[in-house]
Amino acid sequence: MNLHLRPVQPSHYATVASWPESTEATQRWAGPGVPFPLPPERFAQVLELAKRPGWVLLEGPGLCVGFGQYWTTGAGTAHLGRIIVSPRARGRGLGRLLMQALSAQALHEDAVRHLTLRVYRDNTAAVALYRDLGFQQVEASSTPELLFMRRTSG
Ligand SMILES: CC(C)(COP(=O)(O)OP(=O)(O)OC[C@H]1O[C@@H](n2cnc3c(N)ncnc32)[C@H](O)[C@@H]1OP(=O)(O)O)[C@@H](O)C(=O)NCCC(=O)NCCS
Repeated sequence: MNLHLRPVQPSHYATVASWPESTEATQRWAGPGVPFPLPPERFAQVLELAKRPGWVLLEGPGLCVGFGQYWTTGAGTAHLGRIIVSPRARGRGLGRLLMQALSAQALHEDAVRHLTLRVYRDNTAAVALYRDLGFQQVEASSTPELLFMRRTSG
């Protein structure tokens, strides 16, 4: 597989916006209040790409198969969010590769040593993936619905 992580481009917005199949799926992926369908022309503003840069996982020369964001939240910490793989491409290891590539990119930033994320407790696939990648739940920062998870590098 020829896969690489690249900054998201406007030409990817419609593709990524088409992946969540319902209001519930959209909000579980991107947060409460995010509209379904998410119009491509509102993608950058709604996901606050100026503050929270987005990245795509490309397969081959330009097939967009995954998307995610990260932003720094405090001393030495980057928060990962809006992780999603194309529904047609799930179960092939791409979510794992996307998370690994996005984590490596975030840890490449000056002084970032900790990675955090939030995930719905009943999102079995995502929770299993994050645990497998070394993220540990922090109950004190979690809610009955949402797990807060953290990983420290090295
Ligand atoms: C979560 C998501 C990104 C996983 O992507 P994926 O490409 O299907 O995942 P992979 O094929 O790389 O699988 C990686 C691991 O995830 C877990 N996993 C994936 N699909 C699973 C499923 N249906 N049930 C249980 N665990 C699953 C497994 O631990 C798997 O490792 P394994 O293959 O060694 O068993 C994808 O399901 C998705 O886009 N979901 C919708 C958006 C979303 O919920 N994002 C998370 C927001 S926090």
